[in-house]
Amino acid sequence: MEHLLMELPYDYDALEPAMSSETLRYHHDKHHQGYVNKLNSLIKGTEYESMALEDIIKQADGAIFNNASQVFNHDYFFKGITREKTVPSTELQSLIGATYGSMEAFRKAFLEKATGVFGSGWVWLSIDKEKKLQLHKMCNANSPLRFGLFPLMTCDVWEHAYYIDYRNNRPEYLEKWWDMVNWQFVSENLAEFTHATAQKYLQECPESTMVCDYLDELQNNERIES
Ligand code: FE2
Repeated sequence: MEHLLMELPYDYDALEPAMSSETLRYHHDKHHQGYVNKLNSLIKGTEYESMALEDIIKQADGAIFNNASQVFNHDYFFKGITREKTVPSTELQSLIGATYGSMEAFRKAFLEKATGVFGSGWVWLSIDKEKKLQLHKMCNANSPLRFGLFPLMTCDVWEHAYYIDYRNNRPEYLEKWWDMVNWQFVSENLAEFTHATAQKYLQECPESTMVCDYLDELQNNERIES
């Protein structure tokens, strides 16, 4: 299976001045494309050739893992920013409020983690099987998928993400990046997780319980409405 470079969901100059067209062209057309090309050439003739990207990330090591994970990470990063005005869903706001106290406290925690990544890496907001939010610094190409976490949002803190626009001033880049977060994308990821968890719970329900009946009812309503 050939992996393809995602198309940017906005024009190259759409994020200026926070992220210049020059940065986007380098970051997407050179770096991101480079990971896609390298991955396709590395998996040729291997057991990974027919695997979905997420499965390669969960199972591969070395260069194949690094390039697969960087493709996935950059897909998330570019989808996760926008110039449109977006707001977190009620579900996301409520989880963030319960975990961090407020959106402002969450912003502070996220940006502190991002500032503290030593060298190249990523900061991820993920959700675990217990439906608890988790913030992690991840070095190089590392991924929450390796730890059984469901990814919600990420920020790229490799220097290639900001050096053209901010030189080595990572904190300034992070402040500007925060203002571009696509909360709709993050909220949709959370909704996908919630839906998948409900489906899994339903499938694993050994007998008829109140919770199973309720989920069954929700699923039937969804079927009727769609
Ligand atoms: Fe990057």
